[in-house]
Amino acid sequence: MKRIDFYQLMDEASKAREMSYAPYSGFAVGAALLTSDEKVYLGGNIENAAYSPTCCAERVAFYKAVSDGYTKPSDFKAIAVSGGPKGEEASERCAPCGVCRQVMNEFCDSESFLVIMSDGKGGLDVHTLSELLPLGFKL
Ligand code: THU
Repeated sequence: MKRIDFYQLMDEASKAREMSYAPYSGFAVGAALLTSDEKVYLGGNIENAAYSPTCCAERVAFYKAVSDGYTKPSDFKAIAVSGGPKGEEASERCAPCGVCRQVMNEFCDSESFLVIMSDGKGGLDVHTLSELLPLGFKL
């Protein structure tokens, strides 16, 4: 099986911005979630006229994977996130919101799951989920 590197995963996230439905904010986000068996789930943010039902790209990608049966911490390796104004290249860092971090914490091992963002300088910024969500809540 072909191993996917982080730059490839970021490319996929960047392409997934085309899936975004963001008529209200005009901010298109794409996420590419890598499973342990090297499958990539893509998501774009989906907005709503009532605003609060909006779902971030990261959660769309996670919920697609979870509904396909990926539910264990060992199932998930990393997620790349790319976001910026619709129709423009996304070169700035787009960090996952707090709600998405909590959703990642539900399904992933926060010490090993990696969140990949652009560093805004053409490179990548990689953090463990526990760095982005210290002392995350779990039951
Ligand atoms: N958004 C995401 O999709 N992911 C994030 O991590 C941050 C925010 C979306 C939600 C909304 O549709 C738009 O970006 C502006 O907040």
